[in-house]
Amino acid sequence: MTGDANPGHERHMTEKIRWGILGTGRIAGAFAQGLKFLPDANLKAVGSRTHAAADHFGNLYDIPRRHASYEALAADPDIDVVYIATPHTLHHDNTILCLEAGKAVLCEKPFAINKTQSENMIAVARRKGLFLMEAMWTRYIPAVIELQKLLSLDVIGDIRMMEANIGFCAKYDPSNRFFNPELGGGSLLDIGVYPIALSYLLLGPPARITAMADIGRTGVDERASVTFGYPEGRLAVLNFSVTTDMTNDAVIFGTKGWIRIHSPVHRPHRLTVTKKVIPDAALSRLPEIVKRLSRIPVLTPIKNLLMSRREGSLIFPIKGNGYNYEAAEVMGCLRKGKLESARMTLDETRSIIDTMDQIRALWGLKYPCEH
Ligand SMILES: NC(=O)c1ccc[n+]([C@@H]2O[C@H](COP(=O)([O-])OP(=O)(O)OC[C@H]3O[C@@H](n4cnc5c(N)ncnc54)[C@H](OP(=O)(O)O)[C@@H]3O)[C@@H](O)[C@H]2O)c1
Repeated sequence: MTGDANPGHERHMTEKIRWGILGTGRIAGAFAQGLKFLPDANLKAVGSRTHAAADHFGNLYDIPRRHASYEALAADPDIDVVYIATPHTLHHDNTILCLEAGKAVLCEKPFAINKTQSENMIAVARRKGLFLMEAMWTRYIPAVIELQKLLSLDVIGDIRMMEANIGFCAKYDPSNRFFNPELGGGSLLDIGVYPIALSYLLLGPPARITAMADIGRTGVDERASVTFGYPEGRLAVLNFSVTTDMTNDAVIFGTKGWIRIHSPVHRPHRLTVTKKVIPDAALSRLPEIVKRLSRIPVLTPIKNLLMSRREGSLIFPIKGNGYNYEAAEVMGCLRKGKLESARMTLDETRSIIDTMDQIRALWGLKYPCEH
């Protein structure tokens, strides 16, 4: 089900949309900055576990209403939509708290710890007739939208394979959210979700899954490799880590060439398209010529030219800090009375979480909240 009109949100057609931010950590600050690039957004409230943090954050980002609990933020009658910026394990309860209080919700990635949680959240949004979206910001970045256009224009032919690598070396601290199982630590939920969401965008849900992880000192996946298989032999190879710096890029291989999504793949602005000058199909119509050319040494440069590739880079600048695009999508949906984003439907979000459940099952990795 995608985005039925919600007549209760008609007033959003004319007025600024009033945001509240739940949590005051690193990403909450980046999102608050992102909202500043949107003239029709009004960052009105922040909620924290402590008054001091809410006040500090409010001062930093010029937010008038500061709440000393998440419950008080959810109950604030002066906000339309809440952005959830707490650790993964809290997304479920925080999202449901806000939905039950009648607020639309943009929830950070990963949307939930597991499929059951994601289904609960989606069920509440649908029951209440409220907008809900996973903050998979990459989906709304201009280069990613342009990438899809290039692929639909058959620039590299049929996709046969893709690979993506995303990783960084987090300072080891068993208590922080990268390593702490109580907070849903590990690379899969934190950054593996990006290449997985990219593979969904390009190839849909996988038909087959293999996965291997290095389970680290705190019992969560510090590094992992996942392979997805699709109908007609397509493959995706995805690597991610919270303990290794990686190239943070992706390559999509087609029958006529390939496209590189340059780093950072979760917020890209540059694509390089590499095309065969003469596609395989055309070459196969000239087998004799090619064969003859390869036998005559002096003509090798000509053969190389025929077989060579043309390459060009395309730049798609990011206006703002990147988070403004997902926020603009939320506001566009609210103004149209949509209950979900067509670019990142709740069914797709749920399917991605389901796939991550299947990957964790292969590793035998469960979080304490699942026991
Ligand atoms: N889209 C992106 O680019 C991106 C980037 C980074 C993170 N994220 C996602 O955003 C979420 C938060 O990440 P973050 O890096 O912002 O985390 P963070 O810096 O640790 O901040 C998390 C905030 O959540 C609140 N919180 C509530 N219970 C907590 C607990 N038990 N431990 C720690 N914090 C708690 C705190 O705010 P109060 O003290 O004010 O209540 C804290 O400041 C994660 O789910 C992550 O996957 C997304």
